[in-house]
Amino acid sequence: MLQLKEIRKNIYSIKAISYNELDFHGTVFRNDEGASYNAYLVIDEEVTLIDTVEHEFNEAFLKTIDTVLNGRPIDNIIINHVEPDHSSSFLAVFAKYPNAKCYCSEKAEKPMQNMFFANVEYKTVKTMDSINTGKYTFNFILTPFVHWPDNMVTYLVEEKILFSNDAFGNLVANNNLYDDQYDLGLLLRASKEYYANIVMPCAKFVLKTLKEIEDLGIEIELICPAHGIIWRSHIADILEQYKKWANFESKKNKVVIVYDTIWGNTEIITNELGSKLADQGLEVRIFRAGKHRPSLIMTEILDASAIVVGTSNFNSTMLPTIADFIERMYGLKPKGKIGAVYGAYGWSKAHVNRVKDKLKECDIDVIDEDITSNYKPDTTTLDITSVLADKIVEALNAK
Ligand code: FEO
Repeated sequence: MLQLKEIRKNIYSIKAISYNELDFHGTVFRNDEGASYNAYLVIDEEVTLIDTVEHEFNEAFLKTIDTVLNGRPIDNIIINHVEPDHSSSFLAVFAKYPNAKCYCSEKAEKPMQNMFFANVEYKTVKTMDSINTGKYTFNFILTPFVHWPDNMVTYLVEEKILFSNDAFGNLVANNNLYDDQYDLGLLLRASKEYYANIVMPCAKFVLKTLKEIEDLGIEIELICPAHGIIWRSHIADILEQYKKWANFESKKNKVVIVYDTIWGNTEIITNELGSKLADQGLEVRIFRAGKHRPSLIMTEILDASAIVVGTSNFNSTMLPTIADFIERMYGLKPKGKIGAVYGAYGWSKAHVNRVKDKLKECDIDVIDEDITSNYKPDTTTLDITSVLADKIVEALNAK
């Protein structure tokens, strides 16, 4: 569905909401609620469209724009980001408004030409370039790698509105527009999940962007992202959270255990180790790879201090579900974590070192201790989970 709302006089939110889109960005990010793609329309002496939406909404998007414009053309299209969730209806929009001037970063020009119109004259902009549309001034701030190299945000000076594209977004798909219409805990949790699964690899660029915004001294009354809700009452909260997440501020006592098992033996060790860690006062979160959705696991990893991986041996390596989890983690690049490994086996223990090597590739400081069990763990094996638990606590205390 398309939702049109006037958020300030002559400034409209056009929100394409898909409650069914539980797989976001292909099947990469499984979520609970669906997604929204938000574009914004600003009416002045010139009409400016900020971002477009997913192409499946083309027809409804164009109709909605026209209910505001009533035949008047769009003069400017600002392309804050080329990823198709924001740009794939650009083709349809530009076909209808071929005289619109199109603004984007230099890094966006080529992808836009490759993916969409090669023959559009894109006007490339730099940080603090601006356009004036009558009474309004739009300043551009490049934010490379938040989320792709081309990203930028746009600041509407007179209204103190930051159109932030992917930054500060979340997958809360709903008709309520604003942060204060929801429980703040729910919103920050949804924003954390979005950050952990989309923005986390770009942490150092997030810090740079936050500093740049701070240095520019711009006042922000509204943050209008391209996904989810508009921030108006909790701007300080989301900025503070972004700073913490980008700095990988972690809970010193939080451990995430990710395991998978074929015949249940690795699960027996998991339960014992989890219980021992909890007895030592740690916050322990246990997930079974392949059962729990990966985006949930990554969200919990963001502020954990330790990641413990358990896997059965499977043809001399880890289980494919664990390989998938570690590869995903490699791409999302969490920082400052310690790690440990355990698992059951039948005739080869090669998987344990393989997991350790993979964790090291993820820049995780791996504890030189593991637990393996030949078939079903016996009492001795279960007892030595205490040794691993002690080493984990020791490593966390030394951090
Ligand atoms: Fe919402 Fe990077 O796309």
